[in-house]
Amino acid sequence: MAERRVSAVAEGGIAVVTQRRKGDANAFAQGLFGGISGSYGFWAQALSFLQYLRWRRFLVSRLKLGRGALALDVSTGTAGVAIEMARRSQGRIVGLDVTRPMLLAGLSTVDREGLDGRVALVEGRAEELPFPDETFDAVVFTFLLRYVREPEVTIREMARVLKPGGQLLSLEFGVPENALACALWVFYTRAVMPLVTVPVSRGWRRVGSFLGPNISDFYRRYYLEQLTDMWRRCGINPVETARPSLGGAVVMWGVKEGRRGNR
Ligand SMILES: C[S@@+](CC[C@H](N)C(=O)[O-])C[C@H]1O[C@@H](n2cnc3c(N)ncnc32)[C@H](O)[C@@H]1O
Repeated sequence: MAERRVSAVAEGGIAVVTQRRKGDANAFAQGLFGGISGSYGFWAQALSFLQYLRWRRFLVSRLKLGRGALALDVSTGTAGVAIEMARRSQGRIVGLDVTRPMLLAGLSTVDREGLDGRVALVEGRAEELPFPDETFDAVVFTFLLRYVREPEVTIREMARVLKPGGQLLSLEFGVPENALACALWVFYTRAVMPLVTVPVSRGWRRVGSFLGPNISDFYRRYYLEQLTDMWRRCGINPVETARPSLGGAVVMWGVKEGRRGNR
């Protein structure tokens, strides 16, 4: 398939594979994250009241990856989840993202952590993964679905590259259900976050005012039961969910139907 054509370039001793882009389908995400790549880890943790690393650890704790198994971390960004996966398992990890500056920041961290033999980064789109069917023992995606046009099509694409019996896992922001927690969340995301990000940088100011309304809008369109149904329609069954931090995050994990993979 023409769009799946890949060409390899060497950057910093770690392979970055560049995938052909399709129009400007990902321009918004690239613009948003291209402007915050250098400080992403720090502010992600600070703006989530130190919850972000906790959510990430919980997600990775659900992953069962044996020695030599191969996992894909879609929307890897600065490779934080991919690195956590490599640290907590003996598997090999491929991190994929559509925003090159995020990947370049990730490359430095992978290098610094001495994980360049086990974590490789690929530039590409979640909507058209440049891998054959049933390549990976596990596929993880974090904070991705709000940036794709058709979440179900993208989930199906991630399930395609997963081996039968392999695990699909995700972490996304959520909206608290409890009325008081929800009111505090709305106040924080609509009033506090837009304000505190103003002096940080133009990129973070943009994120600060975009994030709250975008999360609310996503869950108005796709509530949790709808998402679990989507996973099942894409062949992931059973599906389990957890809503840490009073529902401020949503973690989902499940197994692809069919013969068990070599995990
Ligand atoms: C909020 S960041 C999360 C980064 C990382 N997963 C983490 O938890 O630290 C979202 C990432 O999704 C990437 N992204 C957005 N749309 C994408 C797409 N269609 N395909 C691949 N990556 C995408 C962005 O470039 C960005 O790096």
